[in-house]
Amino acid sequence: MRITLEDVEYRYQANTPFEHLALYDVNLSIDSGSYTAIIGHTGSGKSTLLQHLNALLKPTKGRIIIGDRTIEAGRKEKQLRSIRQKVGIVFQFPEHQLFDETVEKDICFGPMNFGVSEADAKVLARKAIQHVGLAEDILEKSPFDLSGGQMRRVAIAGVLAMEPDVLVLDEPTAGLDPRGRKEIMDMFYDLHKKRGISTILVTHSMEDAAKYADEIVIMHQGSVFKKGSPQEIFSDPVQLLELGLDVPDTVRFQLKLQKELGIRFDKPCLNIDDLAIEIDKAMKRGNR
Ligand SMILES: Nc1ncnc2c1ncn2[C@@H]1O[C@H](COP(=O)(O)OP(=O)(O)O)[C@@H](O)[C@H]1O
Ligand SMILES: [Mg+2]
Repeated sequence: MRITLEDVEYRYQANTPFEHLALYDVNLSIDSGSYTAIIGHTGSGKSTLLQHLNALLKPTKGRIIIGDRTIEAGRKEKQLRSIRQKVGIVFQFPEHQLFDETVEKDICFGPMNFGVSEADAKVLARKAIQHVGLAEDILEKSPFDLSGGQMRRVAIAGVLAMEPDVLVLDEPTAGLDPRGRKEIMDMFYDLHKKRGISTILVTHSMEDAAKYADEIVIMHQGSVFKKGSPQEIFSDPVQLLELGLDVPDTVRFQLKLQKELGIRFDKPCLNIDDLAIEIDKAMKRGNR
């Protein structure tokens, strides 16, 4: 499912003394089946943007085309449920939204809310819990008896159980340990590859953006600053650093080699293997 934003503006508390312009002139197209990373400073509008992708927020100007639906500023919309089912959002710290007495009931809540029978919802819950790498016996437990990492996985399972076409992830691994982070990021990537789920990830990790995404969007002060492939985005690391953003460690190392030793590179290296190859080439060329 393709999502297109056209001239989107969003003002919080519009027409009040507390009005705040959080997004403006946002033009963006997210292809069906793509993996898009959104990066940018805190306050640059990333979470506000994400909430437009399933019509939780409606633009105060412009329009958003989500599959065959158009959400237009100033127009009343009906039947947003089908959009909410197709575009699943994993919010920051999603475990804060767990509420039911058992994990199973919590996960079944979403699908049942969209009209799935209890029996079918239980099947979906079982599948979802396996997907996030938890054992089935956890279904009978109270979500509040789990560890933080388990709670996060249960909350993610609740979104997966709705079988969305598009998965929107707002810093899904914030606060997890490195191993948990990698497991969860690999799980999302696997879902993206095997089921063709379009994935939109907000992250502060440039390594994750470089590793998983086909496209990176840089948000800056409420608008899209730049969009491109990881190669394109990280080909100008100085610009990113000047914006106060980070770059992958491998790119930082290349900058250092260039500055200290005069080694020139043809392209940014987004992983260690690539870096080793490019250093080897540069040494053989002898251009230092
Ligand atoms: N509920 C709200 N009411 C008023 N302003 C808000 C609200 N939520 C966010 N903002 C403001 O909108 C801007 C964008 O916020 P946000 O989308 O959360 O950015 P990010 O996710 O990139 O950190 C910030 O200036 C933030 O303070
Ligand atoms: Mg945010």
